Amino acid sequence: MPDWQTAAEYEKRRANFFKELEIVFADVAMAICADFMLVFLPAPTVSLRPALAGTAGPVARFFYGCPDNAFPTALAGTSYSFVQRLGSVVRNGTKLFAVGTASSLIGTVVTNALINAKKAVNSTGEVENVPILSTSVGYGVYMAVSSNLRYQILAGVIEQRILEPLLHQHKLMLSAICFAVRTGNTYLGSLLWVDYARMIGIQKAQEEHNELA
Ligand SMILES: *[C@@H]1O[C@H](CO)[C@@H](O)[C@H](O)[C@H]1NC(C)=O
Ligand SMILES: *[C@@H]1O[C@H](CO)[C@@H](O)[C@H](O)[C@H]1NC(C)=O
Repeated sequence: MPDWQTAAEYEKRRANFFKELEIVFADVAMAICADFMLVFLPAPTVSLRPALAGTAGPVARFFYGCPDNAFPTALAGTSYSFVQRLGSVVRNGTKLFAVGTASSLIGTVVTNALINAKKAVNSTGEVENVPILSTSVGYGVYMAVSSNLRYQILAGVIEQRILEPLLHQHKLMLSAICFAVRTGNTYLGSLLWVDYARMIGIQKAQEEHNELA
């Protein structure tokens, strides 16, 4: 995925690409951290779905009973209420907020270290540090809303309801198309992230810098 991330960044920035290498690096570092956490942290719950501890409170119980996505296909003997479907969005959104904020925190700290290292070598090229808190929370919110909803639709509607019934006898083609659709979604996500970051002003400092440069 990082390759796509870089390509998307490049299209969005073209002229400023080399001036903004630190920022691109931060976005890629963030994407790698987020991918890593998304793949490895929730992995056990995906395949095994461990039994809920007897001491679990009512909130944990409620979210445990929610489906994997908001559009589950009804298997024999299971049905989900509207509130449970909504619960799936809230549960995964909360998780994505935590993962997004944490990985962005790492990404911005690394970026600022790079910027400061560059300043130490050449103090004439003045690049502002990236604001750590607003960038991290901004990315967490982005993951919880944009990434979450896109993935809900991707997994629940496009894959489960359209591609799988259509191609269940052509497993290889199914995997290939799912891979392409997911890659496209990652690419779309990085384009949207750049727009969103500009919109909420996370990259303002960099833009001012570029106008001066
Ligand atoms: C330092 O940075 C400035 C502005 O980016 C640049 O014009 C200059 O060539 C750099 N100097 C060195 C020694 O790299
Ligand atoms: C929600 O989280 C669960 C558990 O980690 C995961 O299995 C599922 O794929 C996620 N669903 C969506 C739509 O992100």
